[in-house]
Amino acid sequence: MAPIKAYQPPKQVILLPQTQQLKACTTIIRDKNTQRADFIFYSDRIIRILVEEGLNHLPVVEKAVITPTGKEFHGIDFQGRICGVSIMRAGESMEQGLRDVCRSVRIGKILIQRDEETALPKLYYAKFPPDIASRYCLLLDPMLATGGSAIKAIETLIDYGVAEERILFLNLISCPEGIAAVVAKFPAMKIVTAEIDAGLDEKLYINPGLGDFGCRYFGTDK
Ligand code: URA
Repeated sequence: MAPIKAYQPPKQVILLPQTQQLKACTTIIRDKNTQRADFIFYSDRIIRILVEEGLNHLPVVEKAVITPTGKEFHGIDFQGRICGVSIMRAGESMEQGLRDVCRSVRIGKILIQRDEETALPKLYYAKFPPDIASRYCLLLDPMLATGGSAIKAIETLIDYGVAEERILFLNLISCPEGIAAVVAKFPAMKIVTAEIDAGLDEKLYINPGLGDFGCRYFGTDK
């Protein structure tokens, strides 16, 4: 099954350019026969592209520099500080990709799990830099499925004072259900995604998806 074509994502969604390189990488990580070393390697390649694209949506200011030829060059400078926030455990796989691009970046963590009694996503742990409210947040989770964990994570960031429009949610594979749920609650934030799949299956896995990202990346059982 190919990723969905007719679906028009809402304007809050930034879909990575669908290049052949990206398609080849996602094909490898979707293949159930791909060994873990390759799964990690090609996921990391995609994560790097996602991070670079996410950073393109942060504000910049004009900046002029003098080059070694003595001439002025009119360029830009990054404006504002950032913070990564990974949704444990799968989101932790995206931390190194962020560090590779943003040296010494602060990284917060959120642990959300389904409450056995209510079946709703429940916050178990959150740790952020103290000044998170003044930072742009790159929220990291490789799979946007139902959107339940993402919504809880975004609510938590907002509780800590982060403005919705300062949150960028980065994921490798998303689906219309998860996108709709997140965008309906938080219309001012942006989602950066590598591919949008057809939907969810009866077990709430993304279809065709790639299975359990965290287990494949970290080499564990479900
Ligand atoms: N999380 C995963 O790892 N895979 C899915 O398909 C959905 C959520």
